[in-house]
Amino acid sequence: MTDGQKATLTLNGKTFELPVYSGTLGPNVIDVSSLAQNDIFTYDPGFMSTAACNSDITFIDGDKGILLHRGYPIGALAENATYLEVCYLLLNGELPNKEQYASFETEIKHHTLLHEQVRTFFNGFRRDAHPMAIMVGVVGALSAFYNDTINVNKSDSRRMTAVRLIAKMPTIAAMSYKYAQGQPFIYPDNTLSFSENFLHMMFGTPCENKKPNPVLAKALDKIFILHADHEQNASTSTVRLAGSTGANPYACVSAGIAALWGPAHGGANEACLNMLRQIGDVKNIPAYVARAKDKNDPFRLMGFGHRVYKNYDPRAKVMQEACHQVLNAVGRKDDPILDVAMELERIALSDSYFIERKLYPNVDFYSGITLSALGIPSNMFTVIFALARTIGWIANWNEMMADDHRKLGRPRQLYTGPVQRDYVPVEKR
Ligand code: CMC
Repeated sequence: MTDGQKATLTLNGKTFELPVYSGTLGPNVIDVSSLAQNDIFTYDPGFMSTAACNSDITFIDGDKGILLHRGYPIGALAENATYLEVCYLLLNGELPNKEQYASFETEIKHHTLLHEQVRTFFNGFRRDAHPMAIMVGVVGALSAFYNDTINVNKSDSRRMTAVRLIAKMPTIAAMSYKYAQGQPFIYPDNTLSFSENFLHMMFGTPCENKKPNPVLAKALDKIFILHADHEQNASTSTVRLAGSTGANPYACVSAGIAALWGPAHGGANEACLNMLRQIGDVKNIPAYVARAKDKNDPFRLMGFGHRVYKNYDPRAKVMQEACHQVLNAVGRKDDPILDVAMELERIALSDSYFIERKLYPNVDFYSGITLSALGIPSNMFTVIFALARTIGWIANWNEMMADDHRKLGRPRQLYTGPVQRDYVPVEKR
């Protein structure tokens, strides 16, 4: 990892030599960890310039718009693989052969059921609870079912946690939807594929035996693949930080779900569709673009911009195709919201404000329209994201826990509060 290169820092007449590391791809990083011994800290709000770990899982080149999982481009995976194949890849480092795939799929199917006691948790929520609130609570509650049996330092135990989470997340997600509908929960059907089963649990009822549409299931599988992992984003970093304390992994993933919920991260897909609906008509676009450019207006074009991509998000390209496929399949190819989206994209991509700031459509720009065409309500979009990202969270957690040199995550700060002062009794204040 180190190529012998050193960076030099001079401060108050003292010089520090800092090792420089090269990864297999991407920019070199300067190891500043030794500075703490000299009471020097680096300052980097938002981690704009800080690599918090090393990882073999996912690589992003934001300038070129490249996303690789274990070296495989996202486009090739979305085109050719299934979501479970991508889960296996992210978790194990290699694509499975036929036998490995069959046994992984069987193992996942074996764990799709929830403990019956978990069902009772749902009754504690209001019927109008946001499904992400339910996800945070119920996934966190799994830690009460699997705690003493987990040894986070043992690879077998971590693998079982990964399998359980991948398998149970669709069941919990579908239940959070059914609960709001007032419909009975639908048990998983292990004769179906991963994505078919999710559609079955979402839209099936005990009085009908409808098979999920395979074209729509395939499109959903692609959506899952596109959201499977994305390097050290806010939610993955949250899972790592929580996990670095040795905490229960279900509780850590629940923390990841909470981080994902915000509109700057996973919540953007819901916010984006709401925005497109609010724009409503192509003729209203210029007014919204003007608002997005106005520094005095907090409005932003949702689905545009990314901390890392300063080029077209490669996931957005695949999502745009999937969107057209789904709209064709459901007979809504003339959807006016799609017209608004395509025109907004065209206008924004030719506007100097967006060009100068390298603001391109991200994965969430087309995912809302696609999910909505699949019949999924907008408050479930971020839940779908969480379901799909679970593998990324758990693969990163597993990688961190397997590292013998792992460290408790504990950032420092630049203190700007009062200096030490004397306590004044309340009657004298
Ligand atoms: N609309 C209008 N202006 C924007 C937008 C936007 N969507 N995004 C960034 N800008 C402007 C921002 O005002 C700033 O302008 P200036 O330099 O004049 O002050 C400049 O671009 C840089 O923005 P930033 O907020 O400093 O950049 P960031 O890297 O901190 O923010 C972001 C990244 C994703 C939070 C932001 O682009 C954003 O809020 N986008 C909309 C929300 C969204 O779509 N999020 C989904 C991200 S993809 C899903 C995922 O991976 O989680």
